[in-house]
Amino acid sequence: MSNITRNELQAELLHAVRGLKGQVIHNESLAVGVDWSRSSRTVVAKAKTGGQSRGEMLEAIHQEMADCQLCPLGRTRKNLVFGTGNPGARIVFVGEAPGADEDEQGIPFVGRAGQLLSEIIVKGMKLQRKDVYICNILKCRPPGNRNPQPDEISRCEPFLKKQLQLIAPEVICALGTFAAKTLLKTDIPISVLRGRFHSYEGIKLMPTYHPAYLLRNPAAKKQVWEDVKIIMKELNLPY
Ligand code: URA
Repeated sequence: MSNITRNELQAELLHAVRGLKGQVIHNESLAVGVDWSRSSRTVVAKAKTGGQSRGEMLEAIHQEMADCQLCPLGRTRKNLVFGTGNPGARIVFVGEAPGADEDEQGIPFVGRAGQLLSEIIVKGMKLQRKDVYICNILKCRPPGNRNPQPDEISRCEPFLKKQLQLIAPEVICALGTFAAKTLLKTDIPISVLRGRFHSYEGIKLMPTYHPAYLLRNPAAKKQVWEDVKIIMKELNLPY
């Protein structure tokens, strides 16, 4: 075996061990028994964490994954895009994965699709971005904005699951095919899924078209607005 091959092998082994270690830590921490009912979730969450606030707990997960190398995207990202917004949000928007702008800034939905999402939140729902929570299925940008790969999704999903457990929103809005399929574990097309609530771990989940799709197909904005109105009704927001 040549030296280069041995070095490569060592690097791969180190990478695999780090990944395995991280996965074990995440799986252990996922065992936290958060009660999903709105009335008791804060009490349970605090009891399990020595009185930390939800924001502090989210930040702890963020720090835990800050140097994540569980999948190859860790090597190509500029910034990990964890999520932003209100840790006590009543609604969480879940997108697909960071694009170039998000990778650059470390903040989800700040590019063109993000501007459209902001319009939906601000002009449509009469909320501010700081009122809601926004994150993605993948925390790191797939190179060239290619589709997320199944192994990347399965490595990253435990972090999202934990975020959603902590925030425990009343409604999740899954933006686009990947978010809807990943969260609902289905292959049913988004065009069929959208328009009604589904259940994600007991939380109402509304699938709708991704803002990037709306940029290409503005006619679909009408259907997204219908979905948003169903969400607003559920949250008792005036429209
Ligand atoms: N598209 C996504 O799905 N997420 C982002 O953060 C930006 C664009």
